[in-house]
Amino acid sequence: MKSKPGIGLREFSSRREELMSMMGEDGIAILPGANLVARNSDVDYLFRQDSDFHYLTGFDEQEAVFVLIPGREHGEALLFCRERDPEQEQWHGKITGPERAMQLYGMDDAFPISDIDDILPGLIEGKSRLYYAMGHQQEFDARVINWVNSIASSQHEGTQPPGEFVQLGHLVHELRLFKSKQEVEVMKFAAAITGDAHRRIMREAEPGMYEYELEAELNHAFLRGGARSPAYPSIFGSGNNANILHYIENDDVMKSGELVLVDAGAEYQCYAADVTRTFPVNGKFSKAQKEIYNIVLAAQEAAIEMVKPGNHWNQPHEAVVRIICQGLLDLNLLEGTLDTIIENETYKKFYMHRTGHWLGLDVHDVGEYRIDEEWRVFEPGMVTTIEPGIYISQDLADVPSRYRGIGIRIEDNVLVTKTGHEVLTSGIPKTIEEIEKTMASKAA
Ligand code: GLY
Ligand code: MN
Ligand code: MN
Repeated sequence: MKSKPGIGLREFSSRREELMSMMGEDGIAILPGANLVARNSDVDYLFRQDSDFHYLTGFDEQEAVFVLIPGREHGEALLFCRERDPEQEQWHGKITGPERAMQLYGMDDAFPISDIDDILPGLIEGKSRLYYAMGHQQEFDARVINWVNSIASSQHEGTQPPGEFVQLGHLVHELRLFKSKQEVEVMKFAAAITGDAHRRIMREAEPGMYEYELEAELNHAFLRGGARSPAYPSIFGSGNNANILHYIENDDVMKSGELVLVDAGAEYQCYAADVTRTFPVNGKFSKAQKEIYNIVLAAQEAAIEMVKPGNHWNQPHEAVVRIICQGLLDLNLLEGTLDTIIENETYKKFYMHRTGHWLGLDVHDVGEYRIDEEWRVFEPGMVTTIEPGIYISQDLADVPSRYRGIGIRIEDNVLVTKTGHEVLTSGIPKTIEEIEKTMASKAA
């Protein structure tokens, strides 16, 4: 069994320290965890902690509220959580409880969630700034407003409600944008599980299989690797389905002569991988498929080279657009000059999305892409996807029939390092040669 990486208690604590240094001593932050979501009667969706909450606590239970009070003498990091209850635990599994939360999660103090109305107003009182993500959880918003109002209404007793409300997300998201060594190790683990799964499906694909049969092979590899669920609904788009960007029905039969586009990444310890590979169902690319594939591959490789400190966030996209436009011009799928095609954006008929997004606890992770209207500059610790594509719908009557129904995307996850970049998802077959070789190596 591979040793499994994780985020240590000390790192969670240092994240809280960093947040406190951004908040200053006159503030209080309140952050509710995620709620269970009902799927139907008596059945809930698998619980997934709120990403900000997980980032600051590592505490992955429902009905919890985290409170951070920089400079508080009797403890700065406080957790409200469910109390232990043998009957509940018999039905629904373990509950940590406040006592153990202090020890296991490094909290300074912890209280039963049922006491929050009695305790929290007293903690808010006298603070001048309240850091809270208003608009995220409506019911909880109303409770926060009630607590603040209860302080305001008793002002004659000399109490003061906070005068300033600050969106907590801005601060936490700036921290989350920069991944630590431990986070990178966890993301590499998610990437490794994802790579194993993509290799497995390349070997298992056969004409005549349903897309969901191939998805079953991927899910098998995810679970075996330790990822309880994908980081997002997997896309298995064969033939023209690949041209539907968010196709998730995955219920078509895959035919010989078609490509299948698979966009699927594992979630490990709440961190996402986000990988796309496109390969021929019968194991051999046709000439037309090769022509389009190699344009996307060249664009993706050039874009990855653009990921380095000092370059700005849009440079990979600019590189992709130039290469895709030139490639489509060379195949007579676009008309005009390179510059007019780029200026008039006529390429969007074939390439209509952007080249990447931040990646981390969320698959489309937090963090600003622009600062003061300018594209953000890459800095070490950021992780972005690089995922160009070309999509030639079956319905494009003006395109030669050999190209119609081809949809290709290639996606990897790229860490910005001090000197350049590191591809976290490297080693997953990507060139035509690598893919055909992997597909030919299926078990006899
Ligand atoms: N899988 C979602 C994306 O590539 O953005
Ligand atoms: Mn993707
Ligand atoms: Mn992506």
